[in-house]
Amino acid sequence: MRKKILAANWKMNLSATEAQEWLTQFKSGVSDQQLVEFRLYAPNVFIQHLSEDEEMHVGAQNVHPADFGAFTGETSISQLKSVGAQSVLIGHSERRTYFHESDSFLKEKVDACCAHFFPFIFCCGEDLGTRNGGGHLSFVKKQLEAAIFQLNPQEVSLLTIAYEPIWAIGTGQTATTDQINEVHAYIRSILTEKFGENGANVSILYGGSVNQGNAQGIFSCPDVDGGLIGGASLNAFDFLELASSF
Ligand code: PGA
Repeated sequence: MRKKILAANWKMNLSATEAQEWLTQFKSGVSDQQLVEFRLYAPNVFIQHLSEDEEMHVGAQNVHPADFGAFTGETSISQLKSVGAQSVLIGHSERRTYFHESDSFLKEKVDACCAHFFPFIFCCGEDLGTRNGGGHLSFVKKQLEAAIFQLNPQEVSLLTIAYEPIWAIGTGQTATTDQINEVHAYIRSILTEKFGENGANVSILYGGSVNQGNAQGIFSCPDVDGGLIGGASLNAFDFLELASSF
């Protein structure tokens, strides 16, 4: 079954006090009736504290594929699990661009998640030049091929996809619903062809300048199962309000 997911990606924002305030506000506004799974991708330093709240799905924004070792500044899956993280983002365009993470390195991370049976959101999406040149579909397919085509049917259950066109991230320039649904439907067709029913059931989230004004249009696209939300997730009430757009 495709799950509806609203995932907050705080990136490198908020202090410890602000993170606690966010959680308090979120808890005051969230109801048991919500048909959406909320997730919070927080900076690593806040994960242990935030995940003391057992109802909150807290995840990490990045992980290293090795189990342990001399990788200064990095964090392994076992370490993330030991502080309560329940999943991780892999391949966010900011990791690919600013930290030069290659497709093959991302595949190593995916393989490590599978080895630990640790759920992950795999991010993909094209830059503006590729979009303008009409190569966006083949670009996204290559990203998927390079890092997730090796999954076996059980491992596909760990996978969520986030389609995030780079030109729409943090720019206020959202993709149109036609553009979004074209890519989401294409990704779903690839996953279904490759993994059968398991692939068809993978949740595909959209990310890139989602806010209260555009969420309803985006979340009503037939192949959109939720969102990965950056800027609009930093205020707990704004984030919660997005759930009413499904
Ligand atoms: P944005 O970020 O909502 O601020 O565009 C989304 C993301 O990068 O995940």
